[in-house]
Amino acid sequence: MYLGVDYYPEQWQHLGDDMMAQDMARIKQTGGNMIRIGEFAWHLIEPADGQFDFSFFDLVIQTAKAHDLKVMFGTPTATFPAWLAKAHPSILAQNAHGHAHAFGGRRQYCFNSTVYQQYSQRMVAALVAHYADEPAIVAWQIDNELGHEGSDQCYCAQCHQAFQVFLSDKFAGDIQALNQTYGTIFWGQTYNQFDEIPMPTPTITVHNPALRLDWARFRSASLNHFAIAQIDLVQSLRGSHQPVTHNFFGGFFNVACDQNELAAHLDFVSYDNYPVWGGLTEPIAPAQIAMTLDYMRGLKQQNFWIVEALMGAQGHNHIGYLPRPNQAKMWAYQAMARGCDNLLFFRWRGMDRGAEQFCLGVLDVDNQDNRKLAEVRDFMRDIVQHEAALKIPVVADVAVLYDFDNIQSWHVQQQSSAFDFTQELMRLYAPFYAANVMTDVLSVHKDFSTYKIVVVPALQIIDGELAARLQAYVAQGGVLVMGYRAGIKNRDNNLHFGVSAPAFLTQLLGVTVRESEALGVGQSAPVFDVLTGEVSQAQVWRDMVEPCGATVLAHYSDVMYRDKACVTEHAVGLGWAYYVGAGLAAHVLQSLTDVVLTKAGLSSNAQAGGVEQVVRGNAPFTRFLLNHQGQDAVVNGAALAAYGVRVELE
Ligand code: GAL
Repeated sequence: MYLGVDYYPEQWQHLGDDMMAQDMARIKQTGGNMIRIGEFAWHLIEPADGQFDFSFFDLVIQTAKAHDLKVMFGTPTATFPAWLAKAHPSILAQNAHGHAHAFGGRRQYCFNSTVYQQYSQRMVAALVAHYADEPAIVAWQIDNELGHEGSDQCYCAQCHQAFQVFLSDKFAGDIQALNQTYGTIFWGQTYNQFDEIPMPTPTITVHNPALRLDWARFRSASLNHFAIAQIDLVQSLRGSHQPVTHNFFGGFFNVACDQNELAAHLDFVSYDNYPVWGGLTEPIAPAQIAMTLDYMRGLKQQNFWIVEALMGAQGHNHIGYLPRPNQAKMWAYQAMARGCDNLLFFRWRGMDRGAEQFCLGVLDVDNQDNRKLAEVRDFMRDIVQHEAALKIPVVADVAVLYDFDNIQSWHVQQQSSAFDFTQELMRLYAPFYAANVMTDVLSVHKDFSTYKIVVVPALQIIDGELAARLQAYVAQGGVLVMGYRAGIKNRDNNLHFGVSAPAFLTQLLGVTVRESEALGVGQSAPVFDVLTGEVSQAQVWRDMVEPCGATVLAHYSDVMYRDKACVTEHAVGLGWAYYVGAGLAAHVLQSLTDVVLTKAGLSSNAQAGGVEQVVRGNAPFTRFLLNHQGQDAVVNGAALAAYGVRVELE
């Protein structure tokens, strides 16, 4: 198992070479056996056009070897040198208003710039060739957080032209096919040539929704094309002991990048796990941290690495919540419990100068031993004892599905001012988390046929092929939970014509939906639970569900819509299909989830105080108990301190 820290020795170069040796000795003493280096060091390696100098990193690697540390090396293409931007300003990405990003931040390059592609390929080739035979370098990371910080979008002339070519390829050069698909006859938007097609830059009212979904696909294709070319290059030059990874970041549903496509080319997936960042006054909910880990595991359906695990408070400008004593350590355990099997903390030491002074590390700039270092040491010494259990794949009975096209379609048309895809996925994911039932978070394109329960939040794009797979899944005994707004659209981002919603699924779900209502910010609608007689409030959205075979579990209770169902249950073949027609309150969904678990032959493992429990391995089992609360809990009769972790063997 690799454990360690992200380390930027170039930031401490001015203090002399001893600093690096001292740092590495301390990293080793702390329990680390790996450092991750290099991902922002293009200028250091190529200080002038075509002049490569590896002497600094040769020394870093020599020092690492002297301290028995292995190395993950990041290709530095996220931060290009100033000389390159000066010589070729066309590499700079442009915002939607046509302004080029200034040199000075990071990730400001255009994925479609052929100049950038050439320079970055030359840099990567030189770097990997130089170190391919280096036994201490045991992994390559390409670039850094592709698509993050808005870098998935660029509206430069190169992108405009590439978008038109992308569309011409998609429609096989047939502009009338595009016009027909997009419905450009309305508002007189018919195109005669592909070179008339705009990018969706600001205009009066809105752009065509089908064009905007294709723009998102184009952005994804641009990013992935750049990334995959780099992966291919590294794989062609690397040593056979050097797998290739990339570090994905947390806001994945908000980025125009189909990460499943990218991950398919990687040897393993890495994740930068920041449960709190920037100005957040508190961390994201424990369930949401868990969901991000399940998502990362789902990209390749394999265990993954964390190459940036937060330890100190973070922020470029606004500083976020200070992780409480033991809280960041608990997050590291949570990550391991949910499928991370190698972990590096961000970062060895915070900086006294430069852009990230307030992205604090394990050590602070006073360079003294501190609480965080002690936590890292305790974690590293303890977690290695569970290595065997942690290497075993995570087994989940529940799959929560998402689809890239569908998420982008929601970004194009939010429909309810209260709608946020991540939060709506969390609405249906969170009850399983609270029940301590393990979940995989997967693309709909993956095989879900073997799961006991499949949960599908807000899937407005449904095609016949997916509907058939869902149908077969339930018929063979699966339990399906379908969220609201299901199946109103096709893959062109157009509404299904002549088909009742949920398209292709009315028989499976035993319902139709003819009318719906957006519940914007501050709005709600009353829901009557048939079993309990309780009235709760739904938010964000409601479908006026009409049963055609399904049993009504809940209906609306406002006068005009008392006859419309909200939650239904339908027996089909050997399985069950549920429709959840509104953004239900958390406690209502928790009860519904208990019903669904029972139908699937499962049961809740909820612990008092919301303690997270993850069981790994085969007998003997390893049980991780994680207290996410700032107060003590009691689990199985024994106290578990605030932010405490207990690992039980059984
Ligand atoms: C990550 C990024 C790191 C560093 C860190 C600060 O998103 O990969 O380079 O910026 O955030 O919290």
